[in-house]
Amino acid sequence: MAPRPIIIDCDPGQDDAVALFLAMASPDELEILGITAVAGNVPLALTERNARMMCDLANSQLPVFAGCAEPMVRDAISAEYIHGETGINGIDVFEPKTPLQDEHAVDFIIDTLLSKDTVPVTLVPTGPLTNIATAIERNPAILPHIEEIVIMGGAMREGGNRTPSAEFNILVDPHAADIVLNCGRPITLMGLDLTHKVLSTEERVARIGELNNAVADATVGMLSFFHRYDTEKYSSQGTPLHDPCTVAYLLRPELFKTKDCNVSIETESELTMGHTAVDFWHVTDRPRNVSWAFDIDVDGFYDLLTERLARF
Ligand code: BDR
Ligand code: CA
Repeated sequence: MAPRPIIIDCDPGQDDAVALFLAMASPDELEILGITAVAGNVPLALTERNARMMCDLANSQLPVFAGCAEPMVRDAISAEYIHGETGINGIDVFEPKTPLQDEHAVDFIIDTLLSKDTVPVTLVPTGPLTNIATAIERNPAILPHIEEIVIMGGAMREGGNRTPSAEFNILVDPHAADIVLNCGRPITLMGLDLTHKVLSTEERVARIGELNNAVADATVGMLSFFHRYDTEKYSSQGTPLHDPCTVAYLLRPELFKTKDCNVSIETESELTMGHTAVDFWHVTDRPRNVSWAFDIDVDGFYDLLTERLARF
């Protein structure tokens, strides 16, 4: 089977970086058409630079595009207190050789989806949804060309990680999330209920460290930094690897449990802004717009990640 064409839309971010590595290591299954950066964990100038650094480290010649620097309606918020001031603290920053493309990320997404020879494309957003929603708003004709959107964002039973109600990616741009979740295309959403199970314990990180290649070493470096905040916050044995769950789902959907349900986004209340109201028990007759991923074979995930990082 031909590899599935994807666009990864991200805000690296240590866990976004690992998601990129996992996808870059999987050319038999995934054809990465481009990487689009958005402001999120750190400002846009750093997320696009970090995405290009990951291409250099992985020796991947992929086009990287810079997108939206601000959310659609609200003021930008970032997360240096988790990811460090570079977004990828834990490794040394360098000026990447991978160039930044001239085209705006939103134009790249629209042009790629509308291009005649391209089969429907899967979008993989691992940051705030500003680029994707802007592309949909600007040119709704792209919608039939979207195969699926596999998103890291949201929370149900787990509660929020940036506010009591909201997960970071959705909180940063809830208006964009509202547009994307109601766009009518198949959506799989990986929220904190799932990603908080995917803990990078010392043993799991040590296995990656034994691989002895530049990408594995960068992964260990970044996770070692990423570790400190979440392990203290959650008293957990390792930090959750949120964003790579999206790529793992494309590679091994059988590792995941999902349920079709309505997910609606709070865009009005300041108290619960960005909350994902997940109708898990179908207590409303709102349309089932999302496949909500709520469980994962965690050891299977780390086996997959380790096996793929060994390829570099
Ligand atoms: C999400 O927010 C960011 O901090 C991570 O990169 C991830 O995409 C988790 O809430
Ligand atoms: Ca992210």
